[in-house]
Amino acid sequence: MAEDVLLQADGLCTFYGTSQALFDVALKVPSRGGVAILGRNGAGKTTLLKTLAGDLKPARGTVRFNGSECTRMPVEARVRRGIGHVPQEHGVFGRLTVKENLRIGAMAAPRGEQRIDEMIELFPRLGQRLGQQAGTLSGGERKMLAISRALLGSPHLLMLDEPTEGVWHGVIEEIAECLEQLTRTIAVVIVEQHVKMALRVARYCYVMDRGHVALQGPSDDVRDDPALVRLLAP
Ligand SMILES: Nc1ncnc2c1ncn2[C@@H]1O[C@H](COP(=O)(O)OP(=O)(O)OP(=O)(O)O)[C@@H](O)[C@H]1O
Ligand SMILES: [Mg+2]
Repeated sequence: MAEDVLLQADGLCTFYGTSQALFDVALKVPSRGGVAILGRNGAGKTTLLKTLAGDLKPARGTVRFNGSECTRMPVEARVRRGIGHVPQEHGVFGRLTVKENLRIGAMAAPRGEQRIDEMIELFPRLGQRLGQQAGTLSGGERKMLAISRALLGSPHLLMLDEPTEGVWHGVIEEIAECLEQLTRTIAVVIVEQHVKMALRVARYCYVMDRGHVALQGPSDDVRDDPALVRLLAP
């Protein structure tokens, strides 16, 4: 049987001006299940996600999604093909209400209103705050709204950049549960500092160091690998 690969990146090199942030990064994401990207601050995790989402164009390397190459495709075209991205810096409209944010996310979606109800079911906290300005939500609530907005596009792949950053541990649990549920039907790529949470959601794990993939393997192996501690040490 052919290997189940939804997204495949090879030899990615991404620069900021003359400064290289990714060196020959390769990664595979199956069509179901979670993949985690770990690494200390500045390792290149956000750069990798942005390169996969189309916010940054790599100088070299390729990204293939669902059988076709999308290395130079604009962000919107990737979204239409089913790549959802929740950036580290949230991705919600602060001046609009929760409901308005969800409506915008659902605009292009078939059965938009019904999908909004599904998001409220997934994150009941949002349902209690539909009239509230998104800019006044707590960090955790804003993350939930950003995840919901990305999900309204019905992605085949959801990429999340630190969905639990600055979030209270009780809410981390809620987000982890939701992501675990999602990995049963779609592909989820999660960038995390919170290693326990990432390895819970992901079956496979990549650890980055100074723009390289330094360690990779099934989460159960990486969890016990002595190199992990060294690679995550400040
Ligand atoms: N816009 C930019 N211009 C120049 N250099 C940048 C830019 N964004 C990131 N970098 C550099 O690229 C490298 C990788 O940064 P990146 O944001 O991908 O790291 P990260 O692993 O996501 O870190 P964190 O855990 O702190 O979010 C760092 O050295 C960073 O300083
Ligand atoms: Mg980052």
